[in-house]
Amino acid sequence: MSNQNLGLETQAIRTQLERTQYLEHSVPLYLTSSFIFEDAEDMRASFAEEKERNIYSRFSNPNTFEFVEKICLMEGAEDGYAFATGMAAVYSTFAALLNSGDHIVSASSVFGSTHTLFTKYFPKWNITTSYFDVNKPETIENFIQPNTKILYAESPTNPAVDILDLELLGKIAKKHNLILIIDNCFATPYIQNPIQFGADLVIHSATKLIDGQGRVLGGVTVGRSDLIREIYLFSRNTGPALSPFNAWVLSKSLETLPVRIEKHCENALKVAEFLENHPNVASVKYPFLKSHLQYEVAKRQMKLGGNIVAFEIKGGIESGRKFLDKIKLCSLSANLGDTRSIVTHPASTTHSKLTEEERLAVSITDGLVRVSVGLETVQDVINDLKQALE
Ligand SMILES: Cc1ncc(COP(=O)(O)O)c(C=O)c1O
Repeated sequence: MSNQNLGLETQAIRTQLERTQYLEHSVPLYLTSSFIFEDAEDMRASFAEEKERNIYSRFSNPNTFEFVEKICLMEGAEDGYAFATGMAAVYSTFAALLNSGDHIVSASSVFGSTHTLFTKYFPKWNITTSYFDVNKPETIENFIQPNTKILYAESPTNPAVDILDLELLGKIAKKHNLILIIDNCFATPYIQNPIQFGADLVIHSATKLIDGQGRVLGGVTVGRSDLIREIYLFSRNTGPALSPFNAWVLSKSLETLPVRIEKHCENALKVAEFLENHPNVASVKYPFLKSHLQYEVAKRQMKLGGNIVAFEIKGGIESGRKFLDKIKLCSLSANLGDTRSIVTHPASTTHSKLTEEERLAVSITDGLVRVSVGLETVQDVINDLKQALE
């Protein structure tokens, strides 16, 4: 269907299903729950997996196949499976690969629901997790136990935009024979390919920048084919599959991912530079600002800095809340990676149930504001932030 030697933009656009007899230019939507068979033998052989064949859309669907194929090419992965949401991808990946008694070593700052999975649900099945400080990667090996199976991290992290050295994680995983899984949601396959640095699996919440317009939910896991086979078998039976409609939307979205990301990142850098010079801002975190603690690592592993800027507003929780109240153009929303710029204040919203100490352990200070920089005229976004900061 497509060529591994093509450029990433061409892969995102020209990877498409075979045309039907109608010779459509753009791929149609296969909104069908099941597929038919020629005869009993065709049906038997399909179920026996002697043929590559769509049977039922919980297992596979042409639109889902196309979406996964594109992500595999763009991430340099062997195979993949697409899910209804990013969290379905995270949950199913772990659930498929882990057994009772296994142990995970995870970065301390991971997406809230992922953290809840590790702390609240996995212990029910005797799966435990240890956390290493994202800013002390040299301590990772201290947490590895004989029963550790997975090393897990996001880079950049949500919401504090910390950066993990993927090459280092790759080396540690190899040395200890661990499965390295990276949530690449903030970077997208355009900015960073964790498999190049030794990741075995890469997860995306496609709801974010892959869709890019805040319309549909989706998730995907790609990587080593032996691991994807386990994930596929688990998912085929448990049912977290991506809907064909969402797969169709997401595959179309990928066609414009490279140009969107270029502009998102150009805008985000301008916003970060503006914030860095504002008197009411204590500090700014953006991977491609020289002041970022892991600037050198970011430059090594990322093509661009991403669209998320985190900053510390002077005055703590109260200032953060006041800032949100004064915002006019940007949206107050839980999503990110949309064409529309979005601001959030984790300490008073998503992470308000944590104690200050717990928040600090995951790099969330009281005045931390996260901006998902969109595709509006960047000066309008800057003007909005400026008036809200004053
Ligand atoms: C880093 C990261 N991983 C996973 C998810 C979960 O994705 P979804 O909302 O599509 O389930 C999110 C959502 O914000 C996220 O930011």
